[in-house]
Amino acid sequence: MTEVVQAAPAPPAIKLPPATRMPALIQGLGFATARRRMMRNLARRYGKVFSVHVPIYGDIVVVGDAQLARQIFTTSPDELGNIKPNLSRLFGSGSVFALDREEHRRRRRLLAPPFHGKSIKNYETIIERETLCETAKWPEGKLFPTLESMNRITLNAILRAVFGADGAELDELRRIIPPWVTLGSRLAALPMPKRNYGRLSPWGWMAEWRQNYDVIIDKLIANEQSDPNFHERTDVLALLLRSTYEDGSAMSRKDIGDELLTLLAAGHETTASTLGWAFERLCRHPEVLADLVQEVDAGGSELRHAVILEVQRVRTVIDFAPRHVFSDVYQLGEWTLPRGSSLIVNIAQIHEDPDVFPNPERFDPQRFMGSKPPAFAWIPFGGGTRRCVGAAFANMELDVVLRTVLQHFTIETTTARDERWHGRGVAYTPKSGGRIVVHRR
Ligand code: HEM
Repeated sequence: MTEVVQAAPAPPAIKLPPATRMPALIQGLGFATARRRMMRNLARRYGKVFSVHVPIYGDIVVVGDAQLARQIFTTSPDELGNIKPNLSRLFGSGSVFALDREEHRRRRRLLAPPFHGKSIKNYETIIERETLCETAKWPEGKLFPTLESMNRITLNAILRAVFGADGAELDELRRIIPPWVTLGSRLAALPMPKRNYGRLSPWGWMAEWRQNYDVIIDKLIANEQSDPNFHERTDVLALLLRSTYEDGSAMSRKDIGDELLTLLAAGHETTASTLGWAFERLCRHPEVLADLVQEVDAGGSELRHAVILEVQRVRTVIDFAPRHVFSDVYQLGEWTLPRGSSLIVNIAQIHEDPDVFPNPERFDPQRFMGSKPPAFAWIPFGGGTRRCVGAAFANMELDVVLRTVLQHFTIETTTARDERWHGRGVAYTPKSGGRIVVHRR
């Protein structure tokens, strides 16, 4: 009897979204220097899903549709991983950004608990104190940018969360981290040279920086391990040092250094930029500001929470969540993408979608009063298994800093033009630094 051999079904034909015909060099330059504007223009022309060609990444499918974002965020991590290359070029191969599938899941199980709701409650008082200390230096009756202050507060907050007690080493980190973040953000969108151009090149500077950083981290690890109360400590470093994976193995020293750098860098500029935008928006919206002050004085928080949600929507500081296709093909709505495709969920475009948020350009916290934000359309922290590990921590910081400032200062309102967007490479900040005029209350 002849055996009937069934042919394997032919793989579905690849079908890619429309691509711009702009020369590759212009697309690359646009992506590196004016990403947001370029994406807006392309979305206007091609709609909610389109492709761009960018050096380092090749073709990227840009997705600005909330339903498709939902699909992407709920796809198994075996099918979609992190884009390649990603921020681990800067943080190191031991960073959570470098990990996928099982390794990623294991690391997230280590990292998530210290940033959960219950654990972060302890940091509220620390952040309030940091805010009071920083704002004590604010000038009265004079226009000044809030962004630098916000960066100092949020860097101090994440340093305390990660290392616990303060000390000389933290002063050193306070000094060396901001210039690293500034340069690293710029380099994030550029190709890495194959040759080493020495310490005078930006990459050489980064390598030298990393050696200094490692010396400080070694001291901090030694301090923690010699603490008689080491086993009771709740800071992130102690948790990482004590924790073991399911197979009993511990994190390596290099992985700990990479991960701490990841948390310190990813964990402060984003939150500070959002706060800068909050002040920029509030001083241009007198009614919202007046209601907010009244609510703070009465001990309430509902409007403040709505303001925080709306600032994150209308002034989105991280504009995309990236992914990489691991499966043979990936069916995304009507498109069929091949293995190895890069895609990004265009968070900013979804936040500006009038089908989801009517009059999207309006700053209107009322849209979030008494209702939860739509799960896959309000996505400043991305989504799915890679959703920002610090989302709850960031929201707590935003709330405590805003509350403390409103309790202690009157913010003057202004009719000045909106501050423009300023791309720092990774995050978007208000171009003039979220400038306000304040008076002590
Ligand atoms: C307002 C402040 C913040 C914003 C807007 C923000 C935004 C984001 C976004 C969009 C992602 C990518 C999510 C995805 O791919 O789906 C992300 C990832 C990440 N964020 Fe945040 N973030 C903020 C604060 C923080 C803080 C405070 C920390 C540290 C505690 C942090 C640590 C991280 C880490 C480690 C990842 C990588 C997660 C992974 O790959 O599994 N972020 N963040």
